[in-house]
Amino acid sequence: MTFSGKTAASRTGGQAFARIVFDADTIAARVAELGREITAAYPDGDLLVLGLLKGSFIFLSDLVRQIDRPLQVDFLVAASYGAGTESSGEVRLLYDPETELEGRHILLVEDIIDTGRTLERLMELLRARRPGSIEICALLHKHIAAHLTYDARFVGFDAPRAFLVGYGLDHAENFRHLPYIASLT
Ligand code: IMP
Ligand code: MG
Repeated sequence: MTFSGKTAASRTGGQAFARIVFDADTIAARVAELGREITAAYPDGDLLVLGLLKGSFIFLSDLVRQIDRPLQVDFLVAASYGAGTESSGEVRLLYDPETELEGRHILLVEDIIDTGRTLERLMELLRARRPGSIEICALLHKHIAAHLTYDARFVGFDAPRAFLVGYGLDHAENFRHLPYIASLT
């Protein structure tokens, strides 16, 4: 895939990225595999796929169409305290699923795990609702932290330690709609 061409330039407003890290075909193939892994991991029982907005919206919509079993979908909106670019580790829920979580099998879908702090706090909040089980599926994992209390059971790709955009991931709310994942730096 190239950076030039009408589509790329018109979608990004002319912004040039350092490189495309995962192109659309590569993402689609891996998401199909993840769907098969998840289908096999949940042989029976109910399944609630819980997407963390906004970053997971494209990944989740592709992923659920590759899961070959009954399931339900809901979303969470979480916000970190503080407006810095560094993850503060303090998380609060802005939108809480109306769905009852107690006793249910939950698959939490996240765009990218960087420090892992967001998920750490979110998992504490969700576990307090006493779900039957809770697992994490992340499209991308930067493997920054030496140890995570709650790590992802399903990971799409190991990610480089660069700032990534596209396929749901943003920089200042831009670039979420790109069909590929690119590195800004
Ligand atoms: P963590 O708490 O450090 O794991 O941060 C996770 C959140 O930070 C993700 O859900 C993203 O919203 C955001 N984030 C981390 N790395 C990137 C990146 O490379 N591009 C876009 N957003 C990112
Ligand atoms: Mg973000």
